[in-house]
Amino acid sequence: MDRFVIRGGAPLAGVIPVSGSKNAGLPIPVAAAILGTTDSRITNVPELQDIHTMARLLRHLGSPVEVGDGVLDIGAADSLNVEAEYDLVRRMRASIYVLGPLLARFGEARVSFPGGCAIGARPVDIHLRGMEALGASIEVEHGFIIAKATKLRGADMSLMGPQGTSVGATANVMMAAVLAEGVTTIRDAAVEPEVADLAGCLTAMGARIEGAGTRTIAIEGVGELHGADYALPPDRIESASYILAGAITRGDIRVRGAERRHLGAVLGKLTEADIWLDWEGKDVRVTVPNGIRSVDVDTGVYPGFPTDVQAQYMGLMCMAQGKARIVENIFTDRFMHALELQRMGADIQINGNVATVTGVDRLTGAPVMASDLRAGMVLVLAGLAAEGETVVSRVYHIDRGYERIEEKLRAAGADIQRVSD
Ligand code: UD1
Repeated sequence: MDRFVIRGGAPLAGVIPVSGSKNAGLPIPVAAAILGTTDSRITNVPELQDIHTMARLLRHLGSPVEVGDGVLDIGAADSLNVEAEYDLVRRMRASIYVLGPLLARFGEARVSFPGGCAIGARPVDIHLRGMEALGASIEVEHGFIIAKATKLRGADMSLMGPQGTSVGATANVMMAAVLAEGVTTIRDAAVEPEVADLAGCLTAMGARIEGAGTRTIAIEGVGELHGADYALPPDRIESASYILAGAITRGDIRVRGAERRHLGAVLGKLTEADIWLDWEGKDVRVTVPNGIRSVDVDTGVYPGFPTDVQAQYMGLMCMAQGKARIVENIFTDRFMHALELQRMGADIQINGNVATVTGVDRLTGAPVMASDLRAGMVLVLAGLAAEGETVVSRVYHIDRGYERIEEKLRAAGADIQRVSD
């Protein structure tokens, strides 16, 4: 297992490029591989563990998928194995994305039930409710979700859940409804940019979708979909993470290739915190001419503050002047990183889904452990800002979602080494 050894304390300076979006890069290849009757090519694909896991899952289903050099080449298949087994699904929850498209195209899907994970319970009931609304029968047997339908039929449904809308359920139902008979209306749909991107790719494949990116999506089913060429958008969470790397080290960096309109809530909070952000097209220069101010944050569904940036933002607040209240509304147990940050000298009190962070003058390097992808990233950020040496273990969590992270940070002056056992 790899570790990062970081010698912190130096401000970052230089240019950090943004890669293609992981969260758009998971459903889009699934749609292309399972729903397309001709070949597809996805470009701007980040080199990430999660993308390789998805490619393995699709190959396991019988789809010829090649991944390399930022490209995913997906061959069309007339028939596929409809079973996604435990060993692949347990590695990545997004494996549930195969459910809707397999059901729509082949009338059956058997997907191992995804378990919980380090950020708390992550149920799939909204996905299943959506498939049932389209006329599928659902059973859970021997750890598998078994969904069947001779022909899906369009329906009018709400996908609202206890924590609000669901990105995954909206995407999954959309991938099923594109081949259903008649019109499907999804109300309370997730409006995250990744949903609009998936709809963009499905539309390029011949689907009829209106309203993706708004709360109501209308889908008129078609007989079949062909393949498409589609370029993934920049990763908005990676963009925010590197903007925070510049801020927490009080550096002077440019984050290159970011999509400003997808980052509204994060940019708003950072501006309040007195981080200076100067945009030139898709480049943003990050500087910290004054101190960092403490600013409260509540996570929410898009366009609210993303839960996927909560950990990294908490890192910044550890170094701010004052007290910040961080409320996690999406994954209410998602504070594992707080304990590790405390080991580095942070002052954080947790009460349920509320963290109160009192800024300290300095963090000090320590051995720490990544518990999930974004929790891993904040430890890297804190390590860059801390005095002395930080060793981050369980780097495999970080590799799931950050392409060439140590190379990108080193190019901006960071002292970070990957050490393999
Ligand atoms: C996606 C993102 C993830 C991000 C999350 C929230 C991908 C691959 N992952 O995850 O990085 O953190 O959106 O922005 O795009 N819920 C239910 N029942 C369900 C489904 C979800 O109760 O059937 C709950 C979840 O537990 C959570 C909330 O709804 O509290 C939102 O989850 P959802 O939007 O579905 O997240 P994912 O699609 O899993």
